[in-house]
Amino acid sequence: MRHPVVMGNWKLNGSKAMVTELLNGLNAELEGVTGVDVAVAPPALYVDLAERVIKEGGSKIILGAQNTDLKNSGAFTGDMSPEMLKDFGATHIIIGHSERREYHNESDEFVAKKFAFIKENGLTPVLCIGESDAQNEAGETLAVCARQLDAVIKTQGVEALNGAIVAYEPIWAIGTGKAATAEQAQDIHAAIRAHIAQSSEEVAKNLVIQYGGSVKDSNAAELFGMPDIDGALVGGAALDAKGFAAIAKAAAKAKA
Ligand code: 13P
Repeated sequence: MRHPVVMGNWKLNGSKAMVTELLNGLNAELEGVTGVDVAVAPPALYVDLAERVIKEGGSKIILGAQNTDLKNSGAFTGDMSPEMLKDFGATHIIIGHSERREYHNESDEFVAKKFAFIKENGLTPVLCIGESDAQNEAGETLAVCARQLDAVIKTQGVEALNGAIVAYEPIWAIGTGKAATAEQAQDIHAAIRAHIAQSSEEVAKNLVIQYGGSVKDSNAAELFGMPDIDGALVGGAALDAKGFAAIAKAAAKAKA
């Protein structure tokens, strides 16, 4: 049985006051909630503060980050390493987000290298995949997702996906308020799992596949009611403690 994971991707949002308030709110809202792993990925500068607020609250919130680079130390100006993130307790590292693929020209191969490096450092990659509106219209959704996954599978073997998380995020649903319907998302999740099962049924069966793209309190229960949707990667709605906690609770309830 797969354990659901609900993760908040805060993107470029935060201040010392906001991080403290949001995490104090989450610590309180999530008290006693079981049956779901809840993670947050603040901007890197606030990972230190987030670690302290989570610890002080005595909560089980998992700390993550939104990116990493490909070296652990050395002459790499401006870079950030998995080892440094680990030093502050961050374990779940988002890679391959469509915003980084688009604004930073990150290729499938580059994202796959990050995937390998995160695993090498004992951390959990949260690998985002997903198609654009045009690709969706052209019926290329599964081909795009398969290509993005294959960049990892073909270079590192399908077993590399063991313990990792895949987040299916259709780009047309991100920040648009237009989420995929639960049925649409289920169809793609099942197809993604079937694609991985071609290499290993065992890996496919155990892999947590999150849905991301306009997930809210109001559509969470329906999405999590689907058998192949194992949680969510949440953007905008993760910036509100009550709303994000409600999404996490919906996952715990649906998968109990
Ligand atoms: P929204 O939930 O704001 O649509 O963002 C989704 C996302 O990109 C999470 O990584």
